[in-house]
Amino acid sequence: MGVTIRFIWGFPLLIFLLPTLNNFDGRDGGAMASHKLHFVEHTENLVEVKQVYRTGYHFQPKKNWINDPNAPMYYKGFYHLFYQYNPKGAEWGNIVWAHSVSTDLINWIPLEHAIVPSKPFDKYGCWSGSATILPGNKPVIIYTGIAKQKSKPGYQVQNYAIPANYSDPYLRKWIKPDNNPIIKPVHQNVSSFRDPTTAWFNNGHWKLVIGSKNNYRGIAYLYRSRDFIKWTKAKHPFHTKSDVGMWECPDFFPVSSKGTNGLDTSAIGGDVKYVFKASLDMTRFDYYTIGTYDLVKDKYIPDNTSVDGWAGLRYDYGNFYASKTFFDPIKKRRILTGWASESSTASEDIAKGWAGIHLRPWFCDSNFETDREYEDEQFFVMANTPQSYRFGNPATMSRHCLFYTVVDLYH
Ligand SMILES: *[C@@H]1O[C@H](CO)[C@@H](O)[C@H](O)[C@H]1NC(C)=O
Ligand SMILES: *[C@@H]1O[C@H](CO)[C@@H](O)[C@H](O)[C@H]1NC(C)=O
Ligand SMILES: *[C@@H]1O[C@H](CO)[C@@H](O)[C@H](O)[C@H]1NC(C)=O
Repeated sequence: MGVTIRFIWGFPLLIFLLPTLNNFDGRDGGAMASHKLHFVEHTENLVEVKQVYRTGYHFQPKKNWINDPNAPMYYKGFYHLFYQYNPKGAEWGNIVWAHSVSTDLINWIPLEHAIVPSKPFDKYGCWSGSATILPGNKPVIIYTGIAKQKSKPGYQVQNYAIPANYSDPYLRKWIKPDNNPIIKPVHQNVSSFRDPTTAWFNNGHWKLVIGSKNNYRGIAYLYRSRDFIKWTKAKHPFHTKSDVGMWECPDFFPVSSKGTNGLDTSAIGGDVKYVFKASLDMTRFDYYTIGTYDLVKDKYIPDNTSVDGWAGLRYDYGNFYASKTFFDPIKKRRILTGWASESSTASEDIAKGWAGIHLRPWFCDSNFETDREYEDEQFFVMANTPQSYRFGNPATMSRHCLFYTVVDLYH
């Protein structure tokens, strides 16, 4: 894991800034108008899965379409990764939560689907979400359910799911209790209300944010709960920014400004800074700021040296989207993974029988201080293109952590 060779992108040149690519994912938001929704049953995809472009280390199932990573977590000896998956083909549609586990984050064991559309609150889709580990080592997932076929109030809601058997380290079976949904939009844009984060705890409440927009303003709505079931929307958004469009898959987490270990999502204290990441639906890239978290107002405030918006820093300058982090309590590191699509056309995807990978997880590593190569780099070191190798702001950012990545092997 200590390999520090920079990531080499093996795909053909990826063009990811063209707004016309908005709908290559075929999900929601800007792509709404051109969506093809595949709720109808397809015949099982009989196309032979082509090995061309399949990757060596990155996560990908045997076949079919994948997009966002969901609810990554560590539980009883296994890393769990759920992901948006089409069981019926290599294009977006029929989305379920597929599930794999691993002990090393490289070799994955596929399990049965964890969450599939079945109840009134997720009948038309089980979209992205996150896991929180509650006291007593009890994981809970909150995800976005699509409750109506058309965009109208109650369309995108947030549901919870709990393990059927906490003794099962594989967490094979999940229960979606009937008191769902637990969060419904009120005056929020009903078509743009999704992707709940991992919750964090302080001042007697669990808190999480949900991605949204109002016209072109990106919004992260904050919700609070004492019991994880009854959630109340805060008066003020946790964070918001004009002219960026829909914020999908927000992620919020603390980083240590002193140590090199990752931190639990609920960590607070003097030597703690915070990262807020949003996935920009309009152009499909993940940008982030570093800032402070005002515990009294429950607001995130980017540092005045951290550019918020289109000119902000990205995790990665290649094709990388809908990323999510989680805290690994065993190795005390925060691990990041995200979705990359090959940017091929839908018909090319269908022909090759699969679409999408998750980039091999990156993580904070305590070898940082001894790693000469990266000594003058500050925060996340991730880049696919040479011109973006140095994008930190050394004057203002302290050393939080470093994500390593390995040379990618393409077959
Ligand atoms: C729960 O999981 C444990 C560990 O895998 C297993 O031994 C037990 O039989 C399971 N219980 C049920 C009710 O399935
Ligand atoms: C809500 O989102 C939909 C879909 O993106 C968009 O067409 C509509 O204009 C949005 N409404 C507002 C008030 O932002
Ligand atoms: C940015 O914030 C720091 C303290 O947080 C302050 O000292 C500095 O003057 C600010 N810079 C600008 C340009 O506002």
